[in-house]
Amino acid sequence: MTDLLRAEGLSAFYGASQILFDVDLALQEKRTLALLGRNGAGKSTTMKALAGVVPARHGRIFFGGRDITRAPPHTRAQLGLAYVPEDRQVFPEHTVEDNLLIAAKSGPDGRRDWTLPRIWDTFPLLTKLRSRQAGRLSGGEQQLLVIARALMGNPLVLLLDEPSEGLAPIVVATIGKVLRELGASGATILLAEQNMHFCLRIAEEAVVIDKGKVVHRQDTAGLAGNDDIRRRYLAM
Ligand SMILES: Nc1ncnc2c1ncn2[C@@H]1O[C@H](COP(=O)(O)OP(=O)(O)O)[C@@H](O)[C@H]1O
Ligand SMILES: [Mg+2]
Repeated sequence: MTDLLRAEGLSAFYGASQILFDVDLALQEKRTLALLGRNGAGKSTTMKALAGVVPARHGRIFFGGRDITRAPPHTRAQLGLAYVPEDRQVFPEHTVEDNLLIAAKSGPDGRRDWTLPRIWDTFPLLTKLRSRQAGRLSGGEQQLLVIARALMGNPLVLLLDEPSEGLAPIVVATIGKVLRELGASGATILLAEQNMHFCLRIAEEAVVIDKGKVVHRQDTAGLAGNDDIRRRYLAM
């Protein structure tokens, strides 16, 4: 299998403080990889480094075989790397439908698999809300909207930063169902999460980080039964 996205020896800093230490990650095409770790472990910083929002001080990032280590965020997006940050930024004054249409474009390979009709099919909840102002949606609805909006750009890879965070269990279940369906339809996803249980039926494999270092890798099914790692590095 081909690594679609790969980080090698990644380090990142905020000012003088080093946050990531020698992080290696490989995401294969059509797979979902969970990036697990406690609050403050470095998940968001890793996602930002991959998206180009935070510079990599050392190491290399390859996307589709191309070295994107120094590429700015918009170039990475054009190449098909869609980053969905944890803050769920929507265009609050615009309707749900307009938020989606603003992002509509063909993928880097010319594909246009994701169009409005397919979004309505995949996200029935958004269909009902299509005319509502995005600023009036609940947190869970906004999370669904930002995932859907990323898909409208027909990306090759989705970087999702803690989509389940702070949401009610019923909404978390809805988001989980959507991500499982996306994975089954061949999407390639890197899913940063604190919540291991949320990832279990979504990601095949997990990378665990702690204090900015990769400390463990395992298939998610095995990790669920790995009490030692869970106790040491995850909040459960
Ligand atoms: N903008 C920032 N400036 C300085 N330190 C930061 C900044 N953002 C995050 N950090 C620190 O970097 C570490 C990793 O944070 P983060 O990547 O957000 O972790 P996670 O997403 O796993 O909760 C934490 O110690 C956090 O306090
Ligand atoms: Mg985070």
